Parts: sequence; structure tokens; C-alpha cells
Amino acid sequence: MVFLELITLAFALLSVISILWTTLQTGIPPMRSSGKACQAMLASIDRPVDGPLIDLGCGWGTLVIALARKYPHHQVIGYELSWLPWLISIVRKYSLHLENLTLYRKDFKQAELGNYSNLLCYLSPEGMLSLQEKMKRELSNEILVVSNTFALPSYQATKVIRLKDVYQTPIYVYSLTS
Ligand SMILES: C[S@@+](CC[C@H](N)C(=O)[O-])C[C@H]1O[C@@H](n2cnc3c(N)ncnc32)[C@H](O)[C@@H]1O
Repeated sequence: MVFLELITLAFALLSVISILWTTLQTGIPPMRSSGKACQAMLASIDRPVDGPLIDLGCGWGTLVIALARKYPHHQVIGYELSWLPWLISIVRKYSLHLENLTLYRKDFKQAELGNYSNLLCYLSPEGMLSLQEKMKRELSNEILVVSNTFALPSYQATKVIRLKDVYQTPIYVYSLTS
């Protein structure tokens, strides 16, 4: 019994340390988008979807699972660096039988994003700056970027939705072309 408790305690401790470690590395905690934010982000994809939908930093899977359920005939991809949130999202994917969802435990900065046309994210000011630099290097077609809370510093949003929450959280929508 004591052995089992020790194992559980060690696992809990390792999980907390790992989340803290990745948060320090990326500067972004695995905080999930609120229900209102998810709804607004999904609703802001207001044109026919062409190609896969990507969540850059998919955390525990909140947004990426909502995407996979709304678009069962499209490929949906999530990138996540933190192993525990990634593992939980994998469990959720299989328990919901989401065949169209692929979850990579990988830095999205190492992925080729230029050919995708729908990117969603909830990052940080620094994360948005990295994404912007990456977009400038790789963009080869028209791309829709939907960002919870944080803006792309040098681009003009085509639309800014203000959520009806205490922070009036902004959702930024961009239509970028090369
Ligand atoms: C604020 S959470 C958002 C989670 C989810 N997208 C949502 O909206 O509910 C941001 C996530 O991005 C992950 N992340 C940050 N930088 C990353 C990177 N370069 N590559 C992959 N994941 C990253 C973090 O580990 C964190 O879990």
C-alpha cells in the first residue's frame, strides 16, 4: 500500500516538474482555451476549409478535439511539446475515436507550416513573434491564422472578436498571403 502511494506521489511530482520544465522552456503554460474562446475560434473559420487544420501548441487537446469533431472529414493536427498534456490528449483522441486527428509531440517551429492554410493558436507575445518570423520565411499560399488573446505583432488583423468574458479576451483573425 505504502509502495503504491509512493509510486503515485513520484508520478505526480514528475508530472508537475515536467510541466514546469516545458513551461520554462517555451514560456507558455498548458492553459486551455475557454469554452467561449473555442466557440469563437471555430466560428471564425468562416470560409470553406481547404487542407488540414492545425493547432500550434495543442495542450490537453481542448481546441484540437473541438476542431476534429467539427471537421470529421478533414485532417486535424496538433503539435505539443509538454509530454503530459500530449499524453492526455492522445488518450482523449482514442477514447473519442477521432481517426482524423494526429497529435505530434513536437516543436511546431521545427514543422513545415508554409503549405497549411488554417492555423489556430493560443501562445504568448514571444510565441506570436516566432510564428510571425516563421510565416514570413515559409508562407507560400493564403493562410488563415486564428489566435486566442495574442496578436501577430506586425500584421493587421482582418477581424478582432471580443469575448463576453471579464477580460473581453480578443480573438485575432488574419488572412495572410505571401
Ligand atoms: C496556452 S496552451 C493552449 C492549448 C490549446 N491550444 C488550447 O487552446 O486549449 C499553449 C500550449 O502550447 C505549447 N507550446 C508552446 N510552444 C510550443 C512549441 N514551440 N511547440 C509545440 N508546443 C508548444 C505549450 O506547451 C502549451 O501546452
